[in-house]
Amino acid sequence: MEKELNKLLADLVVEYHKLQSFHWYLKGYHFFDDHKKFEEYYGDIADAVDGVAENMLKLGLKPESTSEEAYEIILKDFKQLLDEVKAVKALAEKDDVYVTSNLMDDYIEMFYKANWMVGQVLKK
Ligand SMILES: [Fe+2]
Repeated sequence: MEKELNKLLADLVVEYHKLQSFHWYLKGYHFFDDHKKFEEYYGDIADAVDGVAENMLKLGLKPESTSEEAYEIILKDFKQLLDEVKAVKALAEKDDVYVTSNLMDDYIEMFYKANWMVGQVLKK
């Protein structure tokens, strides 16, 4: 059961990313309906990812993506994402692309806060 559930979990994660990517590139007369429908599908799949992983944990099984070092990994990833977002912000400012610069401000705030919160968890 653990092997099959882990395969399902991995397939759901892949499908989530596929649907999200596809919805960015939709075109044509049905754009609004399809964009919304794809968002609904990947939202449902995100819930299923969580549902399958938590179901495994309830059964004493181990989702492969679970790690004892989860917070260390997340903190490292968030720090890297913060650096990336800051670099995009700097480029957008240099090129006067204000919509992107403003969007990056939101993400800078998000990752600063996330870094602080995850960092607090690691301070035992
Ligand atoms: Fe969207």
